[in-house]
Amino acid sequence: MIRTICCIGAGYVGGPTMAVIADRCPEVQVTVVDLNQSRIDAWNDVDLSKLPVYEPGLDQVVGRCRGRNLHFTTRVEAAIANADMVFLSVNTPTKTKGVGAGQASDLRWIEASARQVAACAQGHTIVVEKSTLPVRTADTVKSILSAAQGEVAGAGSPKTFSVLSNPEFLAEGTAIPDLESPDRVLIGGEDPAAIESLASVYGNWVPQERILRTNLWSSELSKLTANAFLAQRISSINSIAALCEATGADVNEVAHAIGTDTRIGPKFLKAGPGFGGSCFQKDILNLVYLCGHYGLSAEAAYWQSVVDLNTWQQDRIAQLVVQRLFGTVTGKRIAVLGFAFKADTNDTREAPAIRICKDLLEEGAQLAIYDPKVPAYQMGADLATEPQDAPTGGPLSGEGVWQRVATPAEAVAQADALLILTEWASFAQLDWADLAPRMRKPAWLFDARSIADLAAARAAGLQVWRVGCG
Ligand code: NAD
Ligand code: UGA
Repeated sequence: MIRTICCIGAGYVGGPTMAVIADRCPEVQVTVVDLNQSRIDAWNDVDLSKLPVYEPGLDQVVGRCRGRNLHFTTRVEAAIANADMVFLSVNTPTKTKGVGAGQASDLRWIEASARQVAACAQGHTIVVEKSTLPVRTADTVKSILSAAQGEVAGAGSPKTFSVLSNPEFLAEGTAIPDLESPDRVLIGGEDPAAIESLASVYGNWVPQERILRTNLWSSELSKLTANAFLAQRISSINSIAALCEATGADVNEVAHAIGTDTRIGPKFLKAGPGFGGSCFQKDILNLVYLCGHYGLSAEAAYWQSVVDLNTWQQDRIAQLVVQRLFGTVTGKRIAVLGFAFKADTNDTREAPAIRICKDLLEEGAQLAIYDPKVPAYQMGADLATEPQDAPTGGPLSGEGVWQRVATPAEAVAQADALLILTEWASFAQLDWADLAPRMRKPAWLFDARSIADLAAARAAGLQVWRVGCG
């Protein structure tokens, strides 16, 4: 029976996942550790609106459990020493240099946390890979742990380990419902007792038939495959969106028509500015790298095309804005609504808005960016420039500038165009009769998320483009 859990990594996965485990398993003490002191401080903030991860419902779950059986600390060693089970939930970004740069996952944080477990664990410890990892990473984790097998730390009993793979399938913005009612929980492993220990934790709230057991490698590879299939659907529909625009078809109608076929299904068929988020691109690139590593070049090229189409879609939207604004956006104010990679999150990692805004800044545009959850410092970090009111060399100098604004109304003041890049629900309610007169005519609405009331925008005098509509 598992009584104490430690999770290494208090990020978008570690924080919400452990909060839900603590909520659903009141008899288990859950400690989430991180090296990042400010992140831990934010998890411990008495003001629950200041948690480092914004997820609807997360504040309530944390509010119920924190201090009872959910703890956030930087005291990594003590938490590992006390744990029956340790989750590794650290970041695994794409390598930026060395062998496999631009494709392979950077496993330095996984290796460091496995070494920490090897050093600090006491007695028998079940080590669970929660991070998304290349298939066969468990070999590495097992090798590191086995080097410490049998050692005795302090007054404890000899160290022994079992390694499991338990990838996380939550999506940001819906993390709490995804965790509370998952389609499935996947557990891969070789040690039946360890598998059943973890299954019994989830068994507190997940029906048994939704707890899948596989071998380690199937579990690791299923996570990469799930993300690749989801992303592939988005690239597929975005490719059809361009064809719709060229032919007079409407991608929403096409998506509905094909999605009603039960073999295809309706989900993940929403055309947009391309997928963002910290994982789709990195996980597909990792799959591309793995295929290449095993000599499967045609398979690698197939998956690479999913990422290439996504990049193309982002560039296509920026170019289209420039074309419609008479071929130049230099010195023109463009209101950008939405910077997060999807609604209901403050996460901007790989957000389509970053590439599209950078393309427009390169063209000399003056961007007024509004997002309800993304602060200016985050936009600055992503755009790699400081906010600025106006170009130093004058509006036609060709220098692109951006600023964060507090409301959509402020964003559109004297703007030539408004570009919607995130599907925040409030953007469906924009009052076009109020916004349109604030813009410089002729003015455009570019709706890359298919969310705005286009009839109202047209009635207010705007020219309108919507993704996938001819
Ligand atoms: P994140 O960057 O938000 O969090 C990772 C945390 O780990 C950071 O706070 C970092 O400081 C900490 N960390 C790194 N090394 C450490 C160490 N040795 N000791 C203590 N703390 C350490 O990342 P994330 O978004 O939570 O993703 C984590 C993993 O989960 C990744 O592999 C990702 O692919 C996967 N995943 C993410 C999502 C998602 O929605 N973000 C969903 C499913 C799976
Ligand atoms: C995705 C997966 O959905 C999760 O199952 C997985 O656990 C997670 O990646 C991960 O491994 O990190 P997430 O990236 O948080 O979750 O969010 P999604 O809802 O999948 O959206 C990803 C991107 O695709 C967003 O930019 C979204 O706007 C876009 N998208 C999604 C579309 O453009 N069209 C769609 O139909 C669906």
